[in-house]
Amino acid sequence: MTQDELKKAVGWAALKYVQPGTIVGVGTGSTAAHFIEALGSVRHQIEGAVSSSDASTALLKALGIPVFDLNEVDSLAVYVDGADEINASLQMIKGGGAALTREKIIAAVAEKFICIADSSKQVDILGHFPLPVEVIPMARSYVARELVKLGGLPEYRQHVLTDNGNDILDVHNLKIMDAVALEKAINALPGVVTVGLFAARGADIALIGTPEGVKTLKG
Ligand code: 5RP
Repeated sequence: MTQDELKKAVGWAALKYVQPGTIVGVGTGSTAAHFIEALGSVRHQIEGAVSSSDASTALLKALGIPVFDLNEVDSLAVYVDGADEINASLQMIKGGGAALTREKIIAAVAEKFICIADSSKQVDILGHFPLPVEVIPMARSYVARELVKLGGLPEYRQHVLTDNGNDILDVHNLKIMDAVALEKAINALPGVVTVGLFAARGADIALIGTPEGVKTLKG
């Protein structure tokens, strides 16, 4: 099976966590795009979605799925999204698609975070994938210097602005042994909007696409 077929398998498998009559939290990326396609097949059974990016909003609207502002929504049963890396504790690195801030906000609201990923995303130790950090543009150099002090090698993601109008630093050279502590330390730097470590609030369930089928992991 190709990587995209594995992504499609988990995207469709996540449908079983969608409850009829609810608003669904929707992530960003190529795996989430398969989930959005699956959601389109049940669009008459759900109330709608809240979206983590302009790109996902466009996909949802194209399928006729109503998109709600998160401020209009009191609670969300599930949030379904991909990951760049996921470990055995279901902590993740996210933000390869630059949507980390809205993803983290919706994940915080949702009762259950369902991570959908192909098996190439599974790691023992987080950090091989460069850790995205969304920063206010004027703070970019300052935050980069602070990230070096934390042992990382930050690289400015050129020609990319987030949906919030901010910059992204991708931090290389990290071997993340205490993801909760690093998430807290980076989030505390003035100018940081969000770090793409989802450790304090990891996934509750991971659906992992393997050539042998979709495996379900619980946090
Ligand atoms: C976007 C993300 C995505 O979930 C992550 O980059 C995985 O993407 P894909 O499903 O395309 O492999 O965090 O900000």
